[in-house]
Amino acid sequence: MDIRQLNEMSYPDFVGYINQWNVLPGSYVTLSKWATFSHMNANSRILQFACTTGFQSRELAVLTGCSGKAFDLSSQAIEMANYNLQHYAPNAQIDYFVADGTKLKLDEKFSHVIIGAGYQFFANPQEAIKKTVEFIEDGGYLLASPFYIKQPIPYELIEEFKTVFGISPTTLGYKDIMSMFNKLEIIYEDRNELCLETEDELQYYCRCTIDRACKIRNITDTALKQAMFDRLYKIKEMSNKLRPYQSYGVLVLRYRQSVYPKRFVELF
Ligand SMILES: C[S@@+](CC[C@H](N)C(=O)[O-])C[C@H]1O[C@@H](n2cnc3c(N)ncnc32)[C@H](O)[C@@H]1O
Repeated sequence: MDIRQLNEMSYPDFVGYINQWNVLPGSYVTLSKWATFSHMNANSRILQFACTTGFQSRELAVLTGCSGKAFDLSSQAIEMANYNLQHYAPNAQIDYFVADGTKLKLDEKFSHVIIGAGYQFFANPQEAIKKTVEFIEDGGYLLASPFYIKQPIPYELIEEFKTVFGISPTTLGYKDIMSMFNKLEIIYEDRNELCLETEDELQYYCRCTIDRACKIRNITDTALKQAMFDRLYKIKEMSNKLRPYQSYGVLVLRYRQSVYPKRFVELF
C-alpha cells in the first residue's frame, strides 16, 4: 500500500482498510433503543445489510445475546468485521460474508433485519428498503436510523461531501424519508438532534483508530500513517460540517403479513 493507492480507495474500502468502527447515527444509544423497543433477546436472529466492519450486529450481539448474519459488498470491510468479532466479541455468533444486497438470496428469515442509515449507500435506496422485507419473518422488525434534513444543505457542501464519501448526502426532509418506510408499522419512532464534535474529540478518535489500523497492518511508514489519519480526519470533519443541516430518526418498524403493505392506523 502506498499513499496514492490509499487515497484512490473507495470510501467503503478505506473504512474497511483502517477498520473504522463506522457507526449508525446515534451509535450505541440507537442500538439500545432498537434492542429495547424491538424486544431483542438471545432468541433473536438478526440480518444486517451493509454491515461495514460489523459494529451494529456485533454490538447488538454483545448487548442482547442475539445471533445472526451480516454482509457487505466490501471484502476489506468483512475481513475487519471478522477481526473485530474475534477480538471484541468472541462469544458473539454472527456470520459475516461478502454479498451484494440488491441480489441477496437466503433460505432463512429473521426476527430482525437491520439497515441503519446504510440504505443510502445503495444505488436505489427505496429498493434496498423493499429488499429487506423479503428477509423479515412474520411479526419481525426492520431497524433503521435515517438521516433527514431540517434546512437545505448549501450546494458547495453537497459537492464537497460527494468527493469525500462517493455518494450524495440525503437532501430529503422528514416526511419524504418517512414515506420510504410507509408500508411497515411504526412501533417506535423518535427524532434526534446531532451535536457537533470538537477538534479534540475528532483528533482523539482518529488517532486511536489509525494507531490500531497500523498495528493490525504492520504499518510503520510515518508518511503513510499520516495520510491514513488525514483521510479519516477529512471524513469526520465533513460529517461535522453537515450536522447543522441534519437530524436523524430511530425507527423500529414491524412487518406483519396480514397488514403489509397497507396502513390501517393513524400516524398520531
Ligand atoms: C459506510 S456504510 C454506512 C453504514 C452506516 N454506518 C449505517 O448507518 O448503517 C455503507 C456500506 O454499504 C455498503 N454497500 C453499498 N452498496 C451495497 C450493496 N449493494 N450491498 C451490500 N453492501 C453495500 C458499502 O460497502 C459500505 O460498507
